[in-house]
Amino acid sequence: MAENNATLTIGDTSYDLPIMKGNEGPDVLDIRKLYGASDHFTFDPGFTSTASCESALTFIDGDEGILLHRGYSIEELSEKSSFMEVSYLLLNGELPSKTQLVEFSQTISRHTMLHEQLATFYRGFRRDAHPMAIMCGVVGALSAFYHDSTDISDPTHRMISSHRLIAKMPTIAAMAYKYSIGQPFLYPDNSLSYTGNFLRMTFGVPAEPYVVNPVIERAMDRIFILHADHEQNASTSTVRLAGSSGANPFACIAAGIACLWGPAHGGANEAALNMLREIGTPDKIPHYIERAKDKNDPFRLMGFGHRVYKNYDPRASVMQKTVREVLSELKVNDPIFDVALQLEDMALNDPYFIEKKLFPNVDFYSGIILSAIGFPTEMFTVLFALSRTVGWVAQWNEMISDPGQKIGRPRQLYTGPKHRPYPGFDER
Ligand code: ACO
Repeated sequence: MAENNATLTIGDTSYDLPIMKGNEGPDVLDIRKLYGASDHFTFDPGFTSTASCESALTFIDGDEGILLHRGYSIEELSEKSSFMEVSYLLLNGELPSKTQLVEFSQTISRHTMLHEQLATFYRGFRRDAHPMAIMCGVVGALSAFYHDSTDISDPTHRMISSHRLIAKMPTIAAMAYKYSIGQPFLYPDNSLSYTGNFLRMTFGVPAEPYVVNPVIERAMDRIFILHADHEQNASTSTVRLAGSSGANPFACIAAGIACLWGPAHGGANEAALNMLREIGTPDKIPHYIERAKDKNDPFRLMGFGHRVYKNYDPRASVMQKTVREVLSELKVNDPIFDVALQLEDMALNDPYFIEKKLFPNVDFYSGIILSAIGFPTEMFTVLFALSRTVGWVAQWNEMISDPGQKIGRPRQLYTGPKHRPYPGFDER
């Protein structure tokens, strides 16, 4: 893949750095042999200029606002595909035939139940525990229950674990919700779709039949597609780093969930809706825009800005369309949607946001939809984790299958004290 070299000169010595070409996106300088040939590391906190791996799953062009999974655009996938189909695509590299899709969906549905003893885990949590805390705990605990498929060098084991994780995540998430509101857990109903089953386990009760609303089911499925993968973001890199040591997949995904929880990442959907509610009415928007621009105020417009997108996040456009569909289906007139539209409009016309290329991201509108469907804000990041699980396991599988895979071990620029003698108490 290396076609040309770049030359790096340090003092009197020059080093050849091979330039590697991907199929899309910027070329990369291969610096793997730099340390050793020289005594220099490169310095890139936050990985703003560093490709940490090769990957064939997802491509993002942040300047153009393009997102492709295995070459297919997110707009087409969210319009024409289903979450099960996108999951197959991410895991296997190609779209399934009709038969393959049916088989895959059946395989996933056969793994939706949890070991019965896992239900007792929930009782260890306070009823008001944040559901992401429950997700971290219960998903990590899966390794204690499904240890028969954790030989990560065996591709079949890896695929079984991946299917289990994708299948059990809705059950675990719905149970976290049910526990918080004191309602009984519902077992999965495999006659329903992946998404329909999740809606029933979340909003159904044993005493009454639950009828899945097809518009909401489709909207929810689309939200799952929009969150399925996003190349080497913080939580995915966390999963890869944890997995690089040979840790079992359940532990790796639990690590990804922990990372996703942060408000700068998956927690932003919760923070964005809270912010819109705090703003409350359009007349308060200018005040919050001014606060976001003030360097002395820690306030940021949540759901705005992205490390990679310096253009409209294509997922945000689909999300905005979906808000309209859901609000109209549920006959909800949420004034917060108006606040969001006007806030977006005002920010996109403000020199600060224009100059810094800050656009709405996927989280800006998702909270409005999820809230209209009936999810409490604490569940938003859980839904993100549920959908991102397929991306995490696909990336983890890709990493383990890579023969050049090494344990992830960054170096550092040391700024602490130099070697010094240990003083006794009377010398301190
Ligand atoms: N509101 C106001 N100013 C912002 C915002 C914002 N939402 N986002 C970035 N900026 C400003 C920064 O203050 C900074 O200004 P400066 O250059 O004058 O110091 C500049 O834009 C660049 O921002 P960074 O934080 O350096 O950019 P980075 O790529 O590290 O951060 C991030 C990206 C974390 C997403 C940031 O835009 C942010 O905090 N957004 C709000 C939280 C959010 O919506 N997160 C969801 C991300 S999408 C996802 O995880 C699914």
